[in-house]
Amino acid sequence: MQSDIANHIWETKYRYYLDGNPVDTAISDTWQRVALAAAQAETESIELWQQRFYELLKDFRFLPGGRILAGAGTDKDVTLFNCFVMGTIEDSMDGIFDALKEAAITMQQGGGVGYDFSTLRPRGFVAHHRGTVASGPVSFMRIWDAMCATVLSTGARRGAMMATLRCDHPDIEEFIHAKQQSGALTHFNLSVLVTDTFMEAVSNDDDWPLIFPLEDPAAGTADLLAEWPGYEQPVPCKIVRRINAQKLWQQIMRGTYAYAEPGVLFYDRINRENNLAYRETIAATNPCGEIPLPPYGACNLGSLNLTCYVQDPFSSRAQIDMARLQADARLAVRFLDNVIDISRFPLARHQAYESGSRRIGLGITGLADTLMMLGLAYASDTGRAQAEAILQHLCHSAYAASIELAREKTPFPFFQADDYLRSPFIRRLPDKLQQQIRQYGIRNSHLVAIAPTGTISLFARNVSSGIEPVYDLSASRRVLNHDGEFNQFTIEDDAWRQWRQQHPDQPTPDYFQTALQIAPRDHLKMQAQLQPHVDNAISKTINVPQDYPFEEFVDLYRLAYESGLKGCTTYRPNPVTGAILSSDDIQ
Ligand code: CDP
Repeated sequence: MQSDIANHIWETKYRYYLDGNPVDTAISDTWQRVALAAAQAETESIELWQQRFYELLKDFRFLPGGRILAGAGTDKDVTLFNCFVMGTIEDSMDGIFDALKEAAITMQQGGGVGYDFSTLRPRGFVAHHRGTVASGPVSFMRIWDAMCATVLSTGARRGAMMATLRCDHPDIEEFIHAKQQSGALTHFNLSVLVTDTFMEAVSNDDDWPLIFPLEDPAAGTADLLAEWPGYEQPVPCKIVRRINAQKLWQQIMRGTYAYAEPGVLFYDRINRENNLAYRETIAATNPCGEIPLPPYGACNLGSLNLTCYVQDPFSSRAQIDMARLQADARLAVRFLDNVIDISRFPLARHQAYESGSRRIGLGITGLADTLMMLGLAYASDTGRAQAEAILQHLCHSAYAASIELAREKTPFPFFQADDYLRSPFIRRLPDKLQQQIRQYGIRNSHLVAIAPTGTISLFARNVSSGIEPVYDLSASRRVLNHDGEFNQFTIEDDAWRQWRQQHPDQPTPDYFQTALQIAPRDHLKMQAQLQPHVDNAISKTINVPQDYPFEEFVDLYRLAYESGLKGCTTYRPNPVTGAILSSDDIQ
C-alpha cells in the first residue's frame, strides 16, 4: 500500500509526460531531470553538480517543493516557485482590475498567492469624483475568488490564495465574518494583520480607531496627508469610527473558534524580524503562512527529510547524524539558489524582486517521526529541545552555505552589510557567521522556512509533515487526480511502520503521540521553540479538540503572541469551512 501512494503521486503529480507520453520512465529519471535542471544554473562542472544533486534527491533526503519536481527541466509554462505575494492594490477601478489581471496570470502559472486588501477603501465610502459608493475589500475578494475558481477549471495546477486585512481597517468586522457561510470565499485563507498597539489596546480594554486611508505602516506615525491613488486630492487619514478593542478581538476569536478562520499574523513582529526590513514592508504571506513577503515578493521551497538522518532508530543509541545534515543543507541551499535562475516567473516584477533578494525557504519534514525514532515524545521538554537543536543546526548550516556561495558567486543584489547585520535575526547568529557576512556578504536574504509539505511528505514514504505531529498512525487517505476524481489509499506513518517491523507484537510506546492526543499548548510550544531559528516563518496548525473551552482558546492566542510566534493558525472541527489546504487538496 505504502509504495502505491508514492507511485500514484509520482504518476499524477511529478512524472513528466510530453504529448501524453511519459518522458520519465522511472522515478530515478525524475530525479535526474530535476538534478540536471538545477545544475544548469552552474557555469562549470554541470555534470558533477547534477550527480551531487541526484545523490541528494534519490533517497528522499531532500524534497524540493512539489512545483520544482513537476516543472524543472520540462517544457511546461509553469513556475518552480510555491509562494508569491502580489503588488499593493491601488484603490481605483483601474488599479483593482490591473491587480486582478496580474493575479490571474500568477494563478495560471501555479503557486500560492497572497494579497493585502487593506489599501481598498471601505464599503460605503464615496468616490468623490464620480459620486459612486465603494463596495469594500470583501466584495472585491469575491471577484478574486471567482477568478481563482475559473483559472483552476482550465486545468492549471492547483493553487490557493491568502487574503490579509489590517486590524484597523474599517471593514475588519466584515472580513472576520466573510467565510462563515458555506461556499463563501472557498479559495481563500484569511488572516488579520494584528499590530502590537492593537494587542496592547486589547489588554487595556481601550477603544480602537478604525481608520482610512491607513497610516503608512513604515512611517510609524499617522501620515495625515497620505497621497491616496484614485482620489483626485490627497485625502487625510481619518478615523472612520471607534470600536472596543477587546470586542474586536473577541470577534476574531469567536470566528476562529467556530470556523477556523481568520488566522492572525503578528504584523509588527514579522516586520521587525525581517532581514530586509531596511527596504521592504510586509503585509501578506503565501497561503500557508510560512513565507511572509513584500509586494511582488516570491520564494521557493525545499525540505530535508529528517528521518533519513536518524542512526540506529528505536534503540538506546539512536541519534541524528548532524554532520550529514550539515553537508546536505549546504547542497540544498545551492540547489534552491540555482532554482531562482532556472525558474520561469509569472510576472517580470516577481522575477525582478526575487533576483534582488534571492529569498529561499529550506526547511524540514518528518520531525515528529524523527522524534519517535529517537524515542522522544513530541509533547515533552526533551523532544522540543532535540527539535530546537536540529533546527538551529540547520539554520546555521544554511547561513554558512549561503555565505560560501556569496564568496563563490556574488551576494544578493539588495545586500547592504550595515543594514542587514542590524536585523534582530542576524544578530542572534553566532559571531563567526556575522563576521563572515560582513566580510563576504551572503547569497540569499532569507534561508529557512517550514512548509506544510502536504504532498511531498506523502511521496517520501509518508513521513510526518513539516513540524506537525503525526495525524494518524494508519489512515485511509484520498488523493486528487488530474480528472478531479479521488483515489483512496490506506497508508501508514513511516516511523510507525518501521517500529512495527523491528518490534512486532509489542505494545506501542507512549512516545507515539498523535496530533489530537497532544494538548494545544504543546503544539504551540513546539512552534515557539523553533521560531527563533526560522527567518521566514513556520506553517503549523494547532489542533484544538471540539470541546476545548473558549476562554482557554483565547488564552492560546495571547500565548502565541507572547511566545514570539509570527502568526497563529488553529483548527477545531467545524461544519462550514474546514481547512482549504487539506492534504487531500494535493497540488
Ligand atoms: O508538498 P508540496 O511541496 O507540494 O507543498 P506544501 O509544502 O504542502 O505547500 C507549500 C506551499 O505551496 C503553500 O504554502 C502554498 O503557498 C502552496 N500551495 C498551493 O498554492 N496550493 C496548494 N493546494 C498547496 C500548496
